Amino acid sequence: MTGPGLRVPTTADAGRWFELFDDAEVMRFIGAGEIRDREYYAGLVQRQRDLAESTGLCLFSVVVDDEVAGFAGIHPWSHPWGPTGSLEAGWRLGRRFWGRGLATAAARAAVELARARGVPQLVSVVQQGNEASAGVARKLGMAVARQHRSPEGASVDEFELLLD
Ligand SMILES: CC(C)(COP(=O)(O)OP(=O)(O)OC[C@H]1O[C@@H](n2cnc3c(N)ncnc32)[C@H](O)[C@@H]1OP(=O)(O)O)[C@@H](O)C(=O)NCCC(=O)NCCS
Repeated sequence: MTGPGLRVPTTADAGRWFELFDDAEVMRFIGAGEIRDREYYAGLVQRQRDLAESTGLCLFSVVVDDEVAGFAGIHPWSHPWGPTGSLEAGWRLGRRFWGRGLATAAARAAVELARARGVPQLVSVVQQGNEASAGVARKLGMAVARQHRSPEGASVDEFELLLD
């Protein structure tokens, strides 16, 4: 197996993201855990394509052995609560891709792209109990800077990474 690659998601990747994330285990620690439909991922992918065009950064498709495994990348935190105005590093893989170091490797590549573009600081917002995601954040060198309560009532850690 080669390491994961990152690419700007194609419009066709939206269907792949939907299929990978049509899984309650994958969505367990995201918002209230609701499963999103195909239209949601079509919109999400289009927003990433627009972001990549204007900033060079987005939630990229993670490609493993020519297969899309999920996404990892950098996007503006888009909620009215939490680290409004910050750039967030995010990651989400289909379940059969977990436990192989892929999210950490993919997120590391995205962080390096952000660093190369002069981004000074990244955050990552992780619900408490999501040990796999907290593990990725820690392996990137992130540390918990603040805590929040999400609108769904979850306790959430805001990890932070200062880039130089
Ligand atoms: C979070 C996620 C992307 C991690 O993907 P992954 O490729 O399995 O992560 P990695 O293999 O890079 O593992 C990261 C670290 O966390 C650890 N870890 C992984 N799963 C764990 C678990 N269930 N409990 C405790 N630690 C865990 C790993 O062991 C690894 O540390 P190590 O190398 O020191 O052992 C994946 O679990 C996922 O897609 N989850 C659902 C979506 C999600 O919650 N996204 C994040 C929202 S904030």
